[in-house]
Formats: sequence, structure tokens, C-alpha cells
Amino acid sequence: MDLKITCIPGDGIGPEIVAEAKKVLDVVAEKYGHDMQYTDILMGGASIDVHGVPLTEEAVETAKSADAVLMGSIGGDTTTSPWYKLPPNLRPEAGLLGIRKALNLFANLRPAVLYEELAGACPLKEEISAAGFDMMIMRELTGGLYFGERKTVEENGVRKAIDTLTYDENEIRRIAIKGFDIARKRRKKVTSVDKANVLDSSRLWRSVVEEVAADYTDVTLEHMLVDNCAMQLVKDPAQFDVILTENMFGDILSDEASMVTGSIGMLASASLNDTKFGLYEPSHGSAPDIAGKDIANPIATILSASMMLRYSFDLDREADAIDAAVKQVLQDGFRTGDIMFEGCEQVGCKRMGDLIVERIK
Ligand code: IPM
Ligand code: MG
Repeated sequence: MDLKITCIPGDGIGPEIVAEAKKVLDVVAEKYGHDMQYTDILMGGASIDVHGVPLTEEAVETAKSADAVLMGSIGGDTTTSPWYKLPPNLRPEAGLLGIRKALNLFANLRPAVLYEELAGACPLKEEISAAGFDMMIMRELTGGLYFGERKTVEENGVRKAIDTLTYDENEIRRIAIKGFDIARKRRKKVTSVDKANVLDSSRLWRSVVEEVAADYTDVTLEHMLVDNCAMQLVKDPAQFDVILTENMFGDILSDEASMVTGSIGMLASASLNDTKFGLYEPSHGSAPDIAGKDIANPIATILSASMMLRYSFDLDREADAIDAAVKQVLQDGFRTGDIMFEGCEQVGCKRMGDLIVERIK
């Protein structure tokens, strides 16, 4: 296959981890007879430094012309970086929100898995973690509070800020369909998370999800309020298969779920539109404090590259080869600092990439 991939190295540790993912992809391409062409674009702080804006039209066009996008991370230290002295619409994060919207990436898949080899890093009590867990958070990514009208005004000398939370039924339906489709390939359970005891948008969410569920009689649907879900994630994470939720709730719950795994450096993500096109990135941030030191964990980005092969290109064998190599490297006792465990060998970012490359079958 000829694959055109746009890469967004981004900020902080982004360039280092994307370099390792490319190394892995190149070996996979060579072994399985594919041709991968990469084009880099700037986004976030890296784009601000060159163009004065976090995302240019040209960058969006380049991304659109590719078959998929592989991203590292964007953003800097919000208290010290000059990027955060800029107005909100010119800060690094605006680039990320901009590309999500421009590419219509409404479905965000965030797996949270407790790796057997890393179970010791799970912060939960052993009686809870012993059951293991493997959930997929499906977060709506282009609607809700993130993209509603917002403004700050002054009324009679009092400052007032307004953010609006809007969903229409089509936005809810398309993410619900993706959620049920994914559940069908997994353990066939969808937990739809909302705040229907308070919000109108959540009541509409609930009723549209139920309409969609009628077409998936083989999948079990349950509804859960978001506050309860936050609690259940630490009380009994094994109960979850697919968590289907709106943008803001998904942002918060996915951070919680990743923390519960104890190894956020391992978690990949995919953001998809209604075709096979997607943007793939690690679930973690740009970690500016460790940037350039060759100590970052590249595994989440490498697993994001694997998701790209699986979801955008249907290259399951190749994706399996990457996933197996990652598993093997852990079994062989190699760890980056963030997942270091007694008795293991600590390695840096580049060496971890090399070790995974060596294990691609
Ligand atoms: C995420 C991040 C972004 C979000 C930020 C950087 C705008 O937290 O991808 O979860 O809130 O969506
Ligand atoms: Mg977040």
C-alpha cells in the first residue's frame, strides 16, 4: 500500500516520540511491503514561533491531503511559556481544537487498559486491580462546550463569562453509532454517560442513544450519570467496556481512566471522521519538563501508529505486529522512567524505539 502520512511533531517531547513511531512504522513498511511517505506540518507552539498562529490554512490543507495524521503533542508550561501570554485563540491548544474541527474528527477513541506487565503501577487497591480492565472511552470531539458560543462581557461593572453547551441530534447520533460499532467488536456493552438529571443536552443525548441502541440489539446499553461514572472508574473499572460520552465529560473521564491504569505513557488515541481518515496521538501531553532529554516514553505514540494502521488502513496484521513487539519489550523487562519497576532495565526514548523495532516480526 502507498500511504501518505502527515506528521505533527509539535512541542515538548512531541518530536522525540514521533521520531520513534516513524522508526517503527518504517520497519513495518519494509517487512510488509508498504510505502510510507511522511510530510511534517507545524502545529501548536512550534507553529506560533514560526507563523504567529498555532495552525495555518496550509497546514490544514496538507493534513487533508494525507491518508492519516500522526501527532506527538502540543503545548508548553502554562505558567512560564510566552505562548500563554497570547490571547486564547492564538495559544497552542487552539491549534489542536482547530484541526479537530477542520478535519471533522468527531469521534475520539481513548483506550484505557491495565497492562498485566505494569499492574504494579496501578494506583488502585489490589483487590480492585486484580480483575484487570480494558475499556474504550468514546468521546465526542467537535461539539458541546468546546465549540459553543463563548464571550466575556461586563454588565453594570460586573464581569461575566458565558460558555454554551449545544448538541443537535445528528451530532449525538453519529458518535453513538461509532460507539455501538466499536462495542460490537469488543465485549458488547455501552455505558452512555451524561448528566440527564440536570442538563437538557444530556436528556437529548440519552434519548438519541436509545434510538441508536434499537439497531444494536446484540449490544447492552446502560446509562450512567457522569459524577457516578467518575466514582465507578476507581471503584470497579472492570465493569466498563465502551464509555460513550460528550466532549467535556470525555475530556475529564479519559484523564481519570488513564491515571487509573498507572501508565499514561502507554495510552494511545484515535480521532476519526466519518470516513477512514483519522488523527492519531498519545493520550498524554507534551511534558515540557522532560523535553529533549531522551527520557520520554515513546510507547503511547508507537501504539497510536498501530491504531492508525488498524483503523485508517485496515492493516490488522501490521498493527498486531507493533502491539506484540510492545508487549514483548515489556516482558523482556525494559522500561522508560515513567513505568520503571524494580528489577527492570531503565532505557531512554530512542533505545526504547530501537528495542521495539528489533521485536517487529
Ligand atoms: C485533550 C486535551 C485537550 C482537550 C486540550 C489540550 C485542549 O486535554 O486532548 O484531552 O481538552 O481536548
Ligand atoms: Mg484532556
